[in-house]
Amino acid sequence: MSVVVTGATGHLGRLVVQNLLANGVAPAEVIATGRRVEALADLAERGVQVRRADFTEPASLLAAFAGADDVLLVSSSEVGRRVEQHESALEAIRAVGARRVVYTSAPRADSTALVLAPEHKATEELIHASGLAFTILRNNWYTENYLGDLAQARATGEIVSSVGAGRVASAPRSDYAAAAAVVLAGSGHDGAVYELSGDVAWDFDELAAAFATVTGRPVVHRRVTPEERLEGLLAAGLDEGTAGFVVALEGNTRDGDLAGTSGELRQLLGRPTVGLVDALTAAV
Ligand SMILES: NC(=O)c1ccc[n+]([C@@H]2O[C@H](COP(=O)([O-])OP(=O)(O)OC[C@H]3O[C@@H](n4cnc5c(N)ncnc54)[C@H](OP(=O)(O)O)[C@@H]3O)[C@@H](O)[C@H]2O)c1
Repeated sequence: MSVVVTGATGHLGRLVVQNLLANGVAPAEVIATGRRVEALADLAERGVQVRRADFTEPASLLAAFAGADDVLLVSSSEVGRRVEQHESALEAIRAVGARRVVYTSAPRADSTALVLAPEHKATEELIHASGLAFTILRNNWYTENYLGDLAQARATGEIVSSVGAGRVASAPRSDYAAAAAVVLAGSGHDGAVYELSGDVAWDFDELAAAFATVTGRPVVHRRVTPEERLEGLLAAGLDEGTAGFVVALEGNTRDGDLAGTSGELRQLLGRPTVGLVDALTAAV
């Protein structure tokens, strides 16, 4: 087995590499890639193969993926450019003769109204058309996405949102990474499309309560309308595009697009997912 991890210089990819090693995969069989390879020096010292890969440089992808059996394609962080970047990666994966691609997607990417889903949907379509064996990991939200709200709660005693009673079935990155390692090193996952989420879908009142537990001070969830939320974000200095994006995502949350709990993450892990308070405590 020889497994490539893209985005290994980022949070999720690094955790996947660490999980593969912890599960007994030989370091020499793991190829950790990214642009900032200097961030991977510690893994290289452990015997992991470290190779530079830039989704915008096809030659770098061919060199980085050479010899791979499986490739974990961690979705790029360059929103708006992801489809072309993922397409380049898929072309390289095919060109080097790898057997399978494992891709980190978004919840119900093919049918959801989630504003971030179209690039994931398009990538999934490219994967289906590629002829490669595949496994799709439709990761729900990371609990770590709310660390900014936690900082706000610590400073002001409140979190402000237009999500209403919307729920989020988040899990920490470490859970998604552990599941990805199980899929990469295991068998029987070809053709699977996993909807991965935390076991519990929490609402923002519960998020405020979790923040109170973590910070040791009272925290309330102040519900505002989408219009009030947009006004507040603009007044706080966000540009129109970013503020509109935040409000749109909160609309998705309000509509339940992040609330699905299939139990598939728990099944892959063979244990419950890490809950909100424990994940936040670990993150701070
Ligand atoms: N489910 C969620 O809640 C959620 C939240 C945020 C993001 N995401 C998605 O999940 C992915 C992983 O999350 P994360 O927290 O690990 O993100 P992250 O820490 O920002 O890591 C992003 C990775 O993408 C790599 N990358 C970006 N542009 C690249 C390019 N042109 N060529 C090669 N590599 C490139 C970066 O490499 P370098 O650093 O070496 O440039 C980095 O390793 C993100 O990229 C994003 O698509 C999901």
